[in-house]
Amino acid sequence: MKFDLKITDPKSKARAGTITTDHGEIETPIFMPVGTVGTVKGVHQTELKNEVNPDIILGNTYHLFLRPGMDILEKAGGLHKFMNWDRNILTDSGGYQVYSLSGRRKINEEGVKFKSHIDGSTHFFTPENVMETQRTIGADIIMAFDECTPYPCDYNYAKRSMHMTHRWLDRCIKHLEKLPFKYGYEQTFMPIVQGSTYKDLRKQSAEYIANSSQQANAIGGLSVGEPAEELYAMTEVVCEVLPEDKPRYLMGVGTPINILENIALGIDMFDCVMPTRNARNGMLFTAHGSINIKNKKWEDDFSPIDEMGITWVDTLYSKAYLRHLFASKEMLGKQIASIHNLGFYVWLTREARKHILAGDFREWKDKMVKQMDKRL
Ligand code: GUN
Repeated sequence: MKFDLKITDPKSKARAGTITTDHGEIETPIFMPVGTVGTVKGVHQTELKNEVNPDIILGNTYHLFLRPGMDILEKAGGLHKFMNWDRNILTDSGGYQVYSLSGRRKINEEGVKFKSHIDGSTHFFTPENVMETQRTIGADIIMAFDECTPYPCDYNYAKRSMHMTHRWLDRCIKHLEKLPFKYGYEQTFMPIVQGSTYKDLRKQSAEYIANSSQQANAIGGLSVGEPAEELYAMTEVVCEVLPEDKPRYLMGVGTPINILENIALGIDMFDCVMPTRNARNGMLFTAHGSINIKNKKWEDDFSPIDEMGITWVDTLYSKAYLRHLFASKEMLGKQIASIHNLGFYVWLTREARKHILAGDFREWKDKMVKQMDKRL
């Protein structure tokens, strides 16, 4: 992997760069649509590629390990071939998914024992076997196995957990050295900063992660219920420590406003289920605010879903028609809303890049944050 930092905004910490992998270029800042089980829910690969047009999407180790399982993925020749996606893929390690299984998992120094949400079967993830699993899935970027701490989290737990995540990181790195790439292209490994909402722990963790000298770095344990101010404060502390010349990925964040504010603090990569999950509940994001398409007020509004939208659904269908699809519980409604929201998120990060390159990012960001805060 190569990262070219093209420009840093003089009025904020925002950056524009280009990541190059064996599956092509990723222009940053970038939003990565989430494709948990090898599908971005409700969106065909052709629409994803031609309409939403992201340079990279996400998959999840936890889900793919349980189903279809590693035998099938190995036989398929990896996830790219299995799902017919020839651009970049990043896989999360399971650290977050296992955390979400609270009550169905036990964490100790060795790893995490958990019960499958599918059939209740018991499994054990360790830093070592999660690296093996990610080799078999074959994403371009693979994540360290970590513990995502909950919010709120008491200081002592956060500290102990952070140190364990650091020890797990060392185990991941050591084990990866023994594991050759499987499918003829490179995989980039990303360590993850933890430390909950404690500035001193975040700083310490960022230093540890930076010292591990990997090609890119991630920040985890955020967007787990903390107020936005705490999220921004943690990003700021960590970005001061992480090296400038490597991409920075903020995991699981967030709303369109969170994304712009974190770009301003120096983040390059984002993922979040929000555009697709909220779309399935009838919530649309636009540059002028959010829309609950189920509201009666849209019943006879025949204007396009989003005049300014970049995907063909935005102008092909009206708000009244989309509302009707949701009222009738038609699956096409969820599909249209998902394409719209993903198109909007990817557009937002591309626009941010344009404004960073043009030198007016801060003014544009402040205007957008005000506009997007509205409910239409
Ligand atoms: N996704 C969102 N937050 C996290 C985190 O802290 N760890 C991992 N592995 N994935 C995440």
